[in-house]
Amino acid sequence: MKFLTSAVGLVTFTAALARDPQAPLSESSSASSAKSPQSRPNIVFFLADDQDVHLDSLAYQPAVHRHLIDEGLTFRRHFCTVALCCPSRVNLWTGKAAHNTNVTDINPPYGGYPKFVSQGLNGHYLPIWLQEAGYRTYYTGKLFNAHTVENYNEPFPAGWTGSDFLLDPFTYSYLNSTWQRNTDPPVSHEGDYTTDVISQKAKGFLKDAVETEDPFFLAIAPVAPHSNVEVDHGTQITPDAPFKVTPPIAAERHKDLFKNVQIPRTEHFNPDKASGVSWIRQLPKQSSVQVEYNDEFYRSRLRALQAVDELVDDIFGLLEQHGILDNTYVIYSSDNGYHIGQHRLPPGKECGYEEDVNVPLIVRGPNVPKGITTDQVTSHTDLVPTILELVGAQPKDDLDGTAIPLREAEISRSDGRRHEHVNLEYWGFALAEGKYGFAEEDLSGKLILFVACTCHGHGFLQ
Ligand SMILES: *[C@@H]1O[C@H](CO)[C@@H](O)[C@H](O)[C@H]1NC(C)=O
Ligand SMILES: *[C@@H]1O[C@H](CO)[C@@H](O)[C@H](O)[C@H]1NC(C)=O
Repeated sequence: MKFLTSAVGLVTFTAALARDPQAPLSESSSASSAKSPQSRPNIVFFLADDQDVHLDSLAYQPAVHRHLIDEGLTFRRHFCTVALCCPSRVNLWTGKAAHNTNVTDINPPYGGYPKFVSQGLNGHYLPIWLQEAGYRTYYTGKLFNAHTVENYNEPFPAGWTGSDFLLDPFTYSYLNSTWQRNTDPPVSHEGDYTTDVISQKAKGFLKDAVETEDPFFLAIAPVAPHSNVEVDHGTQITPDAPFKVTPPIAAERHKDLFKNVQIPRTEHFNPDKASGVSWIRQLPKQSSVQVEYNDEFYRSRLRALQAVDELVDDIFGLLEQHGILDNTYVIYSSDNGYHIGQHRLPPGKECGYEEDVNVPLIVRGPNVPKGITTDQVTSHTDLVPTILELVGAQPKDDLDGTAIPLREAEISRSDGRRHEHVNLEYWGFALAEGKYGFAEEDLSGKLILFVACTCHGHGFLQ
């Protein structure tokens, strides 16, 4: 029965493709149809790191609520296709599935920045296409893993008018991050709080962008609420090198918040009865000591997100101050989701569970309905086609996704016609974050591999 339902989804998807969903939209009666270069919309893209939907983290971000959820469209069924930073980010920025980018891991030989380069993708991803369409492009924060203090210029990431990247092995060092601007050498920010550093850089790029007449794309990719990672030596973070993963670190001003908050005790939280594939089914029920540790880990994530929320608030303030808020699409998402204690798992991602793959997506902008939640099934693969369509760029015929209908007219036109499944895949190891590991018999480094097509549409959300 389930198979039958998904087969219907497939037919619908094929039909949608036949209608050429990447053809430029015509909002025929609206003002945006007469597009002079100056009136083309700007795009600001916030990409958080490891932020969940299912652990309710968004509920602790008042600015995200005020500026995005209340004023835009929230996708309840948006998915990353690989629940791991680098393959997910490469999927997001190239518009191609991981089995087509061949970037399936965070480190070489199967992933990381060197793999993105060797697969020829540095010449074929979103910022290049946006520049071809006449956009100025800016990026600050974490781009990919294994983008390091040594390989940052071999070559430089292409396509950016302005860039200021976090570099490994200091990417997740909340209080000692290293940044690399344009073609300058890396600079250490020892003692500065990472999200406050990115906030300054993002505001700087926004000011640069508004000084010109061209429309712009600005991506802001803070590291929160990812775990804090300290590396003993070496330039990469690999399972073989000594490194320590601890809860994320809050800005001093947020460190005492949320003292009584706990991980939501949902059905899957530390269940009495184990389930799932063998390595997960073998996990013992977590002790009360472990659960208390996980609750504090959870609070640390919420505290770390507070500076991200301030950053969002500041950027909206600037957009308003410059009078460009009404002509700017603002997107908020995360590379992948996160679990803490669900299915008895220690903090981490990499699995196919909803906690890991269902991620935030909120979009606000011209003609996007306000304060609405949608059940359209979408994935990161769809974001490049969506952005290309928003800016009126030439559609690409070798992408794996379909533009997401965002404006009122398109949403009603597409109702029931979009695909109801997403392709999820995973190709590597699972890492337990925090101090407890997987179990007494440590399973870290366990190789997991799955390629799955899951159905998430109406009536068959699993
Ligand atoms: C994918 O990457 C692997 C590992 O580097 C390599 O052996 C393989 O040839 C690549 N495949 C393609 C199609 O590029
Ligand atoms: C901070 O990072 C720099 C490299 O950017 C490194 O040389 C220094 O040792 C680090 N400081 C600490 C306290 O780890």
